[in-house]
Amino acid sequence: MTRQAIVTGGAAGIGAEICAALAAAGYRVGVLDRDGDAARATAARLPGAVGLTADVTDAAQVTAAFDSFGATPDLLVANAGIVRFGLLADQTPEDFRKVIEVNLVGAFITAREAVRRMLPNGGGHLIGLTSINAYGPGPGAGAYPAAKSGLLQLMRQFAVEYGGQGVRANTIAPGFIDGGMSAPIYADPKVRAIRSGGVPLGRLGTPADVAAAVLFLDSPGAGYITGQDLVVDGGVTHAVLRNLPRE
Ligand SMILES: NC(=O)c1ccc[n+]([C@@H]2O[C@H](COP(=O)([O-])OP(=O)(O)OC[C@H]3O[C@@H](n4cnc5c(N)ncnc54)[C@H](O)[C@@H]3O)[C@@H](O)[C@H]2O)c1
Repeated sequence: MTRQAIVTGGAAGIGAEICAALAAAGYRVGVLDRDGDAARATAARLPGAVGLTADVTDAAQVTAAFDSFGATPDLLVANAGIVRFGLLADQTPEDFRKVIEVNLVGAFITAREAVRRMLPNGGGHLIGLTSINAYGPGPGAGAYPAAKSGLLQLMRQFAVEYGGQGVRANTIAPGFIDGGMSAPIYADPKVRAIRSGGVPLGRLGTPADVAAAVLFLDSPGAGYITGQDLVVDGGVTHAVLRNLPRE
């Protein structure tokens, strides 16, 4: 049977690549985004996909968007995320709250909506998009590292609460990804050289690397994996001693 998937923040960047990979693998995809026109444009390029408009922080909009998908999702990819850069002493509470609201509360709202529908259907799978910032906070990353480590724990909690009812929940932590919200950062050749030089695999990651991890985690072979974080970073989070040698 066709597997049904909803991807939040699916209109652009990594989310759009995840939608494309899922559609190519035969999933029926709901491309959910606060930018409904962009969601519909992305969906129009993919076989069988539909565009869904919702801000993930608005529970009523999320419910309406899931209703309009017209099927119970087997997979939710809680991918929508934002970052507001700035040192903590300079952050406004509004910016701090907004980042927690979209990355963490928005993921809760969409995962809750998905789980309520998955339970009577025999189960399903939640995947949240965290970041290596959940392990190593980036200076100037504001609330983003706190939001992403909160999301990691949230998905683990879904895993332990609903595993017995057939729901798996995992996260994927992308590293230095050449695309999406980081595209402007890596437009600078100097930054590209420094960052890719620090990655044991010797290159930046791509949205396709992240999409491949989604397909793997949702594959039948990964069916015993739940409550886990799959770090897709070319090895950089373990490269402290490599990158800071004694001499
Ligand atoms: N690009 C990277 O380097 C990188 C690295 C690690 C983790 N991530 C994470 O991957 C995910 C995707 O990032 P990206 O780089 O593709 O970002 P992006 O900015 O390119 O795309 C994000 C998408 O989410 C949508 N969105 C934002 N807020 C929303 C809301 N409230 N409701 C619904 N949709 C909303 C946007 O309209 C956009 O289409 C995010 O969770 C991000 O934190 C990205």
